[in-house]
Amino acid sequence: MSFQLVLFGGTGDLAWRKILPALFQAYRHNTLPKGGRILGVSRDVLSDDAFRNLIGERFQNIEGEKRPTQEEFSEFAKLLHYQSCDLSSSLDYALLKNRLGEHVSDVCVMYLATAPQLFTTICENLGAQSLNSDSTRIVLEKPLGQDLKSNQEINATVKRFFQEWQIFRIDHYLGKPSVQNLFALRFGNSLFEPIWRRESVSSIQITLAEEIGIESRGPFYERTGALRDMIQNHALQLLCAIAMEPPINAHADAIRDEKLKVLRSLKPWTAKSLKHDLVRAQYRDGSVSGSAVKAYTQEDGVSKDSKTETFVALKTEVNNWRWAGVPFFIRTGKRLAQQDARIVINFRQTPHPIFQTPLGSANRLTIHLQPKDGMALHLFAQGPSQNTTKPAHHTQRTPLGPMLSPVQLNLDFEQRFGADRVGAYERLLLDALAGRLNLFVRSDEQEAAWSWVEPIIDDWQSGASPLYTYASGSWGPIESKEMIEHSGHHWDDDKQT
Ligand code: BG6
Repeated sequence: MSFQLVLFGGTGDLAWRKILPALFQAYRHNTLPKGGRILGVSRDVLSDDAFRNLIGERFQNIEGEKRPTQEEFSEFAKLLHYQSCDLSSSLDYALLKNRLGEHVSDVCVMYLATAPQLFTTICENLGAQSLNSDSTRIVLEKPLGQDLKSNQEINATVKRFFQEWQIFRIDHYLGKPSVQNLFALRFGNSLFEPIWRRESVSSIQITLAEEIGIESRGPFYERTGALRDMIQNHALQLLCAIAMEPPINAHADAIRDEKLKVLRSLKPWTAKSLKHDLVRAQYRDGSVSGSAVKAYTQEDGVSKDSKTETFVALKTEVNNWRWAGVPFFIRTGKRLAQQDARIVINFRQTPHPIFQTPLGSANRLTIHLQPKDGMALHLFAQGPSQNTTKPAHHTQRTPLGPMLSPVQLNLDFEQRFGADRVGAYERLLLDALAGRLNLFVRSDEQEAAWSWVEPIIDDWQSGASPLYTYASGSWGPIESKEMIEHSGHHWDDDKQT
């Protein structure tokens, strides 16, 4: 058998929303290695067929062309098998071992799509059953811990049973085609490298805005919040992709070494910056895409006086030669005006103007990650009617040329490469099966990221900083706008594009 993929949390949300649909897409694209099987594992008592039926029903929720036809699903379902397991029962792991022993497989991937509190128990039991041989890989879903200490504890346990090359820590943002294109843009082209630095860049913005609320994940979100859910991992990984030095080659450790350096160069938080460069907030009721939605505190599984943040905005810097002094602004939130994940590189203004340009504007490169991925380079050009306008005069001695118009060079990846591209989970699952670690996070990266967010967690726990609110369907609290304007910048959506 080519592979066995053991999916812990096999009947959970993540399994049927992301992991199994991604495996199906790989199957459909003919990239899933032939002759493998997927073994769903959870506490529920189900037969193989009942598991297949359950997944078949859930797959009906998949929208559009990604939904399998009946024939496709019945073929794919042949790969699906099921083993009931109480994750704290050593006896059940022995049964799991017997089940896996029915076949000899080249690779066995243990995918832990469970609550992180269970990672330690699962690893200890896998180790006790010797289910951690050299052909085994373990995939760990985020969030890996609640803070630095719990992250270190999980990593220490996992490393007692698995070696680093066997451990695949997922950050699904790294699997997104748009993020891989960011690497391609930077390291597959020579054009941007000379200007990708403090001398040419005035600021960088990362926005990860979601329209959706917390869906059915109230209890999870209550103990997680936006800082742990989005900033500690996805946003910081994007920041690394923007700020890192070119790696010496495309090997996993070469890439991860460079990302680690960025994380270690992040400006440490001080009492002053925690006060001025950081905003947390929670959504009130409001209207999103024309529909009324309730406040966070009215969501199921959420405490009425919850202090969990659903929005974070912050300013930081990367303290190294390339980036010193360039502000990196990050914001993320749920129930915002629209789904929009983008990175904006703002370039400096021309050193000596001879044309007029709209006030305060300069070139910028926008990298759109979601909902569509693409890039737009914002330039200035002279429009056809402008030759006739009378030049404005800055002073008598320094006449300025005509007013230039903003124009864009657009690259739409869907148009160029088609809509049916390899999705994030599909890419990462195929990489885990193939043993490619490039798009997975190393433990020292995670620890550096947790160390950086730790003072924020402490500050918020102490109740020292206010929790603001914002109307659902807005771009977040006014304090986020004030925070960035205080440094002389604006969020990108405040500008005319
Ligand atoms: C997950 C978070 O990691 O990423 C979710 O737990 C969030 O809260 C999701 O909605 C966003 O991912 P994407 O791919 O939809 O941007």
